[in-house]
Amino acid sequence: MSTLEKTTAAAKAGGHPPAPPALEASGISKAFQEKRSRLQVLDDVTLTVGKGEFVSILGPSGSGKSTLFHIIGGLVKPDAGTVRMNGADVTGQQGHISYMPQSPALFPWRTIEDNVLLSQEVQGKVDKEARENARMWLSKVGLGGFEKNHPHTLSGGMQQRAAFLRALLSPQELMCLDEPFSALDALTRSDMQRWLLDIWEESRRSVLFITHNIEEALLLSSRIYVFSGRPASVLHVIDVPFPRPRREEIIEHPDFIKLRRELSGWLREEQLKMQGAN
Ligand SMILES: Nc1ncnc2c1ncn2[C@@H]1O[C@H](COP(=O)(O)OP(=O)(O)O)[C@@H](O)[C@H]1O
Ligand SMILES: [Mg+2]
Repeated sequence: MSTLEKTTAAAKAGGHPPAPPALEASGISKAFQEKRSRLQVLDDVTLTVGKGEFVSILGPSGSGKSTLFHIIGGLVKPDAGTVRMNGADVTGQQGHISYMPQSPALFPWRTIEDNVLLSQEVQGKVDKEARENARMWLSKVGLGGFEKNHPHTLSGGMQQRAAFLRALLSPQELMCLDEPFSALDALTRSDMQRWLLDIWEESRRSVLFITHNIEEALLLSSRIYVFSGRPASVLHVIDVPFPRPRREEIIEHPDFIKLRRELSGWLREEQLKMQGAN
């Protein structure tokens, strides 16, 4: 049944047509022109994030994941394909997503608090309440007392937490996180995962999350798109079956272990293919 037929059927049945997804990226392809050669990076990628869904992209390093985020954020134009948000075509337009880039990208001349409040400031929404809210979050992630510091005085992990808060407190509905915990040591990473899981289960923001950490993807996501090596295409789509709220104990569940093994096999295979090609 086509989307239109489904909508009509829902309307005839007396229900409302389903709300359009927060994000629909359809048929995205992209090549970069190098001096003498063309590097095909994305090949016909289609994915969807429903309202309030937590969706992950899991793929080998160098496959094209960050490039897809740049396209969704309107920083890079695709050669083919469209980006729709809430049903509207926003291909090539900026400002529609809250984005945490792979490197924290904090402004060095702004304090941590002012960095965290940046997106709200752009939208003219920083009042006393917003500042108090930002301070509350800063202390929740262990940055209490560092509000007036400048980024260079903080460790990499602390900068990453500040960048994450900036994305979390941005007003846009869809939050795109590009490997947000990659610079953290294992313990902090596990704390941050736990913390993100709690926040998400409470707030149900629409999230698109890039990672190459399999356990992280299984723990957090409702759905996982497994990317091939470059040029990236969608190899598998996994609906993660574990009920919410989730607890760390699920990593010991036989189904979790089975999925982890399967995903790890696919990723290894793609990594080897890419090494063979380079
Ligand atoms: N602006 C660009 N110009 C040329 N090549 C690029 C550009 N951006 C990314 N690439 C190349 O595209 C490939 C995929 O990069 P990226 O999307 O960062 O992968 P991932 O995030 O999956 O590690 C890499 O080989 C990278 O060098
Ligand atoms: Mg990347």
